[in-house]
Amino acid sequence: MRTNIVHEGADELTYEIRGIVRVAEKLRELGIDIVWENIGDPIAKGERVPEWIKDIVAETMRDDASFGYSPTKGVAAARAFIAAERLRESDVTLDPDDILFFNGLGDAISIVYTYLRRSARVIGPCPAYPTHSSAEAAHAGAPHITYTLECLKNWYPNLEDIRNKVRYNPLVAGILIINPDNPTGMVYPKRVLKEIVSIAREYGLFLVSDETYARLSYGREKMTPLYEVIGDDVPAIVMRGLSKEVPWPGSRCGWIEVYNKDRDPMFARYAKTLVDAKTLEVCSTTLPQLALPRIIGDPRFAGHVRLRTEGYRKKADTARAVFSKIPGVIAPCPESSFYYSVVFEDRVLNGEQTLPISDPAVREYIEREVAGVSPDKRFVLYLMAATGVCVVPLSGFNTDLPGFRMTLLESDVKKFKNTVDKIASAIRRYVTSC
Ligand SMILES: Cc1ncc(COP(=O)(O)O)c(C=O)c1O
Repeated sequence: MRTNIVHEGADELTYEIRGIVRVAEKLRELGIDIVWENIGDPIAKGERVPEWIKDIVAETMRDDASFGYSPTKGVAAARAFIAAERLRESDVTLDPDDILFFNGLGDAISIVYTYLRRSARVIGPCPAYPTHSSAEAAHAGAPHITYTLECLKNWYPNLEDIRNKVRYNPLVAGILIINPDNPTGMVYPKRVLKEIVSIAREYGLFLVSDETYARLSYGREKMTPLYEVIGDDVPAIVMRGLSKEVPWPGSRCGWIEVYNKDRDPMFARYAKTLVDAKTLEVCSTTLPQLALPRIIGDPRFAGHVRLRTEGYRKKADTARAVFSKIPGVIAPCPESSFYYSVVFEDRVLNGEQTLPISDPAVREYIEREVAGVSPDKRFVLYLMAATGVCVVPLSGFNTDLPGFRMTLLESDVKKFKNTVDKIASAIRRYVTSC
């Protein structure tokens, strides 16, 4: 090429949640039955969509309007519904004009960082959901700047770390919160959120709060939406969507809510850029926006969500009971969403451990695949080859902590327990193999 056409952030774009599928597919060809524990798709794991939700979607589709473009910011009735919900449930005023729909939050995340000034950085949690950390790093052409979630303290964020990184790095313009969190299942306590808001206030930062799992908390810590604690001065973007809560990940429907936009002219200009960028794309998926007020506004919705979260809570307890007994691992019980992250203590993993694999073709393949990978990915690959269970190494979540993430999505409770037991016994054998 006459000119270098490679984006400065090209090396930052990694998504191990799907990356690991390449190896799983190959193992499947070699005869291994894969248990997919890598991706957070309730539908793929067998959760049934209630008939009443299907009826609403089918009826909505009968309206020709659902086949057309929608307004750039989103269907007016959907935005009015969300604004009314904020007022009713939290006494928070949100102008429907400050809501902007996207083709899923993946699209929102990409646009939010792409149209941020190159030098402006958003500091995010570590471990981190890779769509955020990769998109932010790619926008800057430099590694994502992170604050620590402490696995020995229920995965709560280290506030001192946030404060120091903000204080000593003037390029930090914003703080990202993923609440409830993926991959840890942690819920940010209200007092922690208030502290983060006060750091933002003190240093003139904006906040991004990804709340895609907002209704899926089930632990002791009640989920507090950011808009309940930001007051009327700290600029913020709250992200919500239909993927996990309905669940309807295939709808590709998520939105951002912009708070305190006019408290800072630069933030207001940035927020306008996001609308302008969406305008170039015309609009986002219409059908789910038309169905949204009828689904979320339905009296059956709360009960439907409660039933699901109750199931996740039980599975989290089942997994905790097993993982907490394994020496050498840290496994804080999640309080929300449908993930469980397990960390190996320092020096528990080395680059030599293995699991017995009887099929020579599978063994040869995996021995090639583990060359040069991180210690936790080595464990994950051996686990998959030996048991068929496909989890995601924690190193795929922009962290040095060795570990893995599984889901709490398996609808067959016996199968779930069986998978947890398989993982636990593999950990025991692996760490003592040499
Ligand atoms: C924290 C978080 N944000 C955003 C997304 C993307 O969701 P969507 O399906 O709306 O693109 C996910 C998906 O797993 C997620 O875990």
